[in-house]
Amino acid sequence: MSRVRLGVVGMNYWGPNLARNFDRLPGAELAWCCDLDTEILDRHRDAYPTTEFTTRYDDLLEDNTLDAVVIATSVPTHAVLAKRALLAGKHTFVEKPLALTAADARELASLGDREGLVVMVDHLLVYHPGLQRVKQIIDAGELGRVYYLYGNRQNLGIVRPDENALWSLGPHDISVLLWLVGERPVEVSARGESYLQPGVEDVVFGAIRFPSGILGHLHLSWLDPHKMRKMTVIGSEKMVVFDDMETERKVTLYDKGPIPRTETYGEYIQVRSGDIYIPKIPGVEPLRVVCEEFVRCVADGARPLADGHQGATVVEVLEAMTTSLHSGGVGIPLGEATQ
Ligand SMILES: NC(=O)c1ccc[n+]([C@@H]2O[C@H](COP(=O)([O-])OP(=O)(O)OC[C@H]3O[C@@H](n4cnc5c(N)ncnc54)[C@H](O)[C@@H]3O)[C@@H](O)[C@H]2O)c1
Repeated sequence: MSRVRLGVVGMNYWGPNLARNFDRLPGAELAWCCDLDTEILDRHRDAYPTTEFTTRYDDLLEDNTLDAVVIATSVPTHAVLAKRALLAGKHTFVEKPLALTAADARELASLGDREGLVVMVDHLLVYHPGLQRVKQIIDAGELGRVYYLYGNRQNLGIVRPDENALWSLGPHDISVLLWLVGERPVEVSARGESYLQPGVEDVVFGAIRFPSGILGHLHLSWLDPHKMRKMTVIGSEKMVVFDDMETERKVTLYDKGPIPRTETYGEYIQVRSGDIYIPKIPGVEPLRVVCEEFVRCVADGARPLADGHQGATVVEVLEAMTTSLHSGGVGIPLGEATQ
């Protein structure tokens, strides 16, 4: 079958990573690169001699031979550009977060369904081979019953002026927490503070309660001495840690846990500490896997793991956490998903 022709919009910081990955896929053709700024476009012309460059987004939408649009522009523009792409009949890949409001995000997901078009969000960690292994471990029941899990995403910088640590860093961990647990949250809350710029939180602690009793937690900060990219899952039998800062030890499975109390009431609960197992994780770039999945879904009509509905639920959680953040950290219930 012919190659999927796609165009990348937004070529400043992150867009070039998408252009590079799509360009290298045998099943794809990077037909267009688009940015409002010609100087930014000029940086990339030599790398893609057969690609067309434009400052007009409409050039992509008017190209009847173009299958898909990849949106890597600033977050406030995602919803408008994605809606226009879908109405023009293009499969649409959107950087995280899908939109600034849950209503816009749900509309995009539904529009994709209605038009029979793929909507995919760059929640690249759900495609990370290390986290894929963690998911297999959980689903195989190796941890026993999952009690709680937490993500750490801390570093010094990049300090963003236009979005806080929750919206900048949170989509990654929220998408992973929701996918690992596989339940719709019932309530979320968040606390955070702005130290460097008024009204822009540098550090956010968020909590997610799931109906089965599992608790999820996030520590998000760009004002921290540690560079951490970690997810820890605590089960009744074992515990597993994903650490993206490690090269050879991305996933560590600990045979540690409580010993079930068998007899007399009032005894201390004993814990045990057994073997530590480090599975081998393939060293592939997660963004390449993401791009492959998008091209495969466009070609086959399949639904991606990180589809528009998953993207919309992540935005719902971000929106509800923002409400909590501005209301002293109170719990905000999440209702049923609206289609
Ligand atoms: N997945 C990840 O790990 C990851 C990492 C960094 C950024 N991102 C996401 O990538 C996106 C882009 O981030 P960035 O840091 O590169 O942003 P940026 O603001 O540096 O660049 C955005 C570019 O989009 C262009 N643009 C804006 N509106 C446009 C329009 N209507 N038509 C054409 N071009 C337009 C701008 O001129 C600019 O060059 C954001 O959604 C961000 O959240 C994702």
